Amino acid sequence: MTAKRTRALVTGASSGIGRAAAVALAASGRQVLAVGRRRAALLPLAEETGCQIAVADICDRAAMAVVLDGFAPDILVNNAGVGHGISGLDTVTATQIESAVATNVTATLNLTAAVLPAMRRAGRGHIVTIGSIAGLHTNISAVYGATKAALHRFSQNLRYELLGSGIRVTEICPGRVSTEFYQAAEGDPDRSAALGQSGIRELDPADIAAALLYAVDAPEHVNVATIEILPTAQAVGGVATARS
Ligand SMILES: NC(=O)c1ccc[n+]([C@@H]2O[C@H](COP(=O)([O-])OP(=O)(O)OC[C@H]3O[C@@H](n4cnc5c(N)ncnc54)[C@H](OP(=O)(O)O)[C@@H]3O)[C@@H](O)[C@H]2O)c1
Repeated sequence: MTAKRTRALVTGASSGIGRAAAVALAASGRQVLAVGRRRAALLPLAEETGCQIAVADICDRAAMAVVLDGFAPDILVNNAGVGHGISGLDTVTATQIESAVATNVTATLNLTAAVLPAMRRAGRGHIVTIGSIAGLHTNISAVYGATKAALHRFSQNLRYELLGSGIRVTEICPGRVSTEFYQAAEGDPDRSAALGQSGIRELDPADIAAALLYAVDAPEHVNVATIEILPTAQAVGGVATARS
């Protein structure tokens, strides 16, 4: 099937990686449905790219059923996510923990389950999930890392479950990307203030979108399983010690 005839649903497309993914998928000729909660941020995307937009909370299953009514995606990009608890378990509230699990894990599983029957009937489809290096490696964030580790296992096991169905499963695990993510995690209304805060040359959202295109543009017999992508100025590893 040519790119022009395929349909992609991108969650969390109102900013950052999801927005860049929607832009790249639309530029490749695909029909894109961009989902997010902030209408004001989605409208310019629609004007710029011709994407359809849907204002919805991915945690609201009834609202997402309406979104999916009439739009059965060939490609689902599970991107929407929150970083509550990124500063440590001591600083997070019970409500934030629930929100992190509901958004990053539960909603992603429910949405994927909702699109699979049509993909199975078609004998093809592609589930792409934006995980994180925090789901693969030890780091400072217990809550966020737990949700992303769940998504890693989800992607790995889903690929196994779907063996023989023709449906591909890809997980993209970025390191630090220059987005509003960290500010949003802290509940800061000036979300753009986080951009470049780490002091390194961070990844751009477009770098992740390029990795996404690599996976979805691969021939049907190729399943790009996991992509781990870091800024050149970032690495994982090491052993921590604490002096008494
Ligand atoms: N930035 C990084 O360094 C980094 C690294 C690794 C992985 N990631 C992952 O990349 C993904 C995208 O994050 P980002 O960095 O692009 O940050 P971002 O700019 O804050 O984007 C997050 C997106 O998720 C949407 N969203 C959050 N909760 C939602 C909900 N309940 N329903 C619908 N949409 C929701 C937000 O839109 P609305 O507010 O409009 O709903 C926003 O469009 C996340 O899964 C994140 O964990 C980011």
